[in-house]
Amino acid sequence: MDDKILVTRSSMPPYEEYIEAIKPLWDSHWLTNMGKYHRELEEKLREYLDVPELSLMVNGHMALELAIQAFGFPEGSEVITTPFTFISTTHAIVRNRLQPVFCDVKESDGTIDETKIEDLITENTVAIIPVHVYGNACNVEVIQKIADQYNLKVIYDAAHAFGVKYKGKGIGNYGDASIFSFHATKVYNTIEGGAVAVNEHKYYEKLYNLKNFGIQGEESVTEVGANAKMNELCAIMGLCNLRYINDTLEERRKRYDFYIKSLKDIRGIKTFVKSKEISSNYAYFPVLIEDDCWITRDQLYDKLKENNIYARKYFFPLTSDQICFKDKYKKICLKKARRLSSQIICLPFFDTMEEEQMTRIINIIKQS
Ligand SMILES: Cc1ncc(COP(=O)(O)O)c(C=O)c1O
Repeated sequence: MDDKILVTRSSMPPYEEYIEAIKPLWDSHWLTNMGKYHRELEEKLREYLDVPELSLMVNGHMALELAIQAFGFPEGSEVITTPFTFISTTHAIVRNRLQPVFCDVKESDGTIDETKIEDLITENTVAIIPVHVYGNACNVEVIQKIADQYNLKVIYDAAHAFGVKYKGKGIGNYGDASIFSFHATKVYNTIEGGAVAVNEHKYYEKLYNLKNFGIQGEESVTEVGANAKMNELCAIMGLCNLRYINDTLEERRKRYDFYIKSLKDIRGIKTFVKSKEISSNYAYFPVLIEDDCWITRDQLYDKLKENNIYARKYFFPLTSDQICFKDKYKKICLKKARRLSSQIICLPFFDTMEEEQMTRIINIIKQS
């Protein structure tokens, strides 16, 4: 028996349902280019995410690159962001020819420390790009206040935050834009996919052009765009998966509670506190291994691996410490981010995880 446990497992609709749903493509032969299913999914996701405008994209990374491009920041401008994230966030900034200015994070939830942002603002700052890491919402109110005061744009990397609500409102309503990822490993997937939520229709139109090579009309290209359109097979996967999203989230919630209950009394094992103002999507199960724990983070990672269990040191190293970025940008004290990064481990977590699998992991952590 294969007893391997991977960190996640993609949610998939019943096979017959997907096969039935893609059949019409063999009549229409319309496979991409903002087809019927692209448009249908875009509208359904806009409703589900409870946002005014949504542009469907080929993946979360291109969603972020184009969301940044849409605002037309001058080359070399500074963007305040977090290093405690997936590399995509920093890549998207740098690939837009902007300078990342890394801000420290809060130990309580891993999101950008909003009290440290103001000190990093200079006359070259144009935007703040925070991350709702693990689906933990940033302090959107304070960040907006700072942005208003200094006339900065706020673009949220909400790749982890599909379906998260803050004070009852879809998380994609905050800031000037928010990007989501629908990668196969995410809470909700379209195999590969993503989207940008924006508040103003003009940005929806801008993104429509940018994801289609900047083509305005048959003979006119008005700006330098990319190819970031979601194809019809992915859109249909998204439509099928969307029918099950509430069940998926409920299954995740049950497993999340089980982990929390089982791990709560172990010395040196800490989990992030869930804010009451957020309705969670239970996207990941990150655990902090503190100094007084019987095992270090790296030892636990190895021990799990020896037992055929594949956790992830998610996010280690910090993006600012990666070879391609190290020593290239402003030196800022990232003490808390660095500490979190050295303690964090994401345990395997998915909606179909069996109790026996969770118990195997818990027993290793409990040393029992
Ligand atoms: C924080 C963060 N931002 C951006 C992305 C990029 O999303 P995608 O993999 O859909 O391109 C990811 C995804 O993996 C992510 O975790």
